[in-house]
Amino acid sequence: VGSADAEYVLSLIRTIPGFPNKNVLFRDFMPVLADPKGLATLLKALKLALPVAARDFDSVAGLEARGFLFGPALAASLGKGFIALRKTGKLPPETISEQYTLEYGQESVEVETNAISSNERVLIVDDLIATGGSANAAAHLVEKCGGKVAGFSFVMELQGLGGRASLGSYPASALVTMP
Ligand code: ADE
Repeated sequence: VGSADAEYVLSLIRTIPGFPNKNVLFRDFMPVLADPKGLATLLKALKLALPVAARDFDSVAGLEARGFLFGPALAASLGKGFIALRKTGKLPPETISEQYTLEYGQESVEVETNAISSNERVLIVDDLIATGGSANAAAHLVEKCGGKVAGFSFVMELQGLGGRASLGSYPASALVTMP
């Protein structure tokens, strides 16, 4: 894992086999947020783990729902604002949306047309990268809005699902890597 902070975060992640369906090892980071030291450690470690190439950014964008749980706190601790990338149907018009396939199902992600300014450099955050479907959809969405993707910051990376490779040349960091 690499650091005492990341080890501590990892120790709080809960694994639920067979949820939400068979053959899924569900990784739950809620206990990290519930633990006072866990939450502070998470934010500090995410900051330190940011890819060097992604450190120059203007705002943090989080993916609904779990990217909303720590994205605003991370943004505030970095002196940046937060942009919500929402599930389709939640935002009033005008919106821009992007469809994707995730480990179990179909989804789409949406943002207000004016949420991102031209050439704004956006760091995208989420709790977990699996296949990379939602991460790539988020990146396309940011670019459709005229923004630039500075990179990605994840808490967890699931191995063997091709997520990291699917991000191509976008800089990305994950605090912990797990099967
Ligand atoms: N999202 C996609 N795959 C997941 C997993 N294994 N655990 C938690 N969230 C997920």
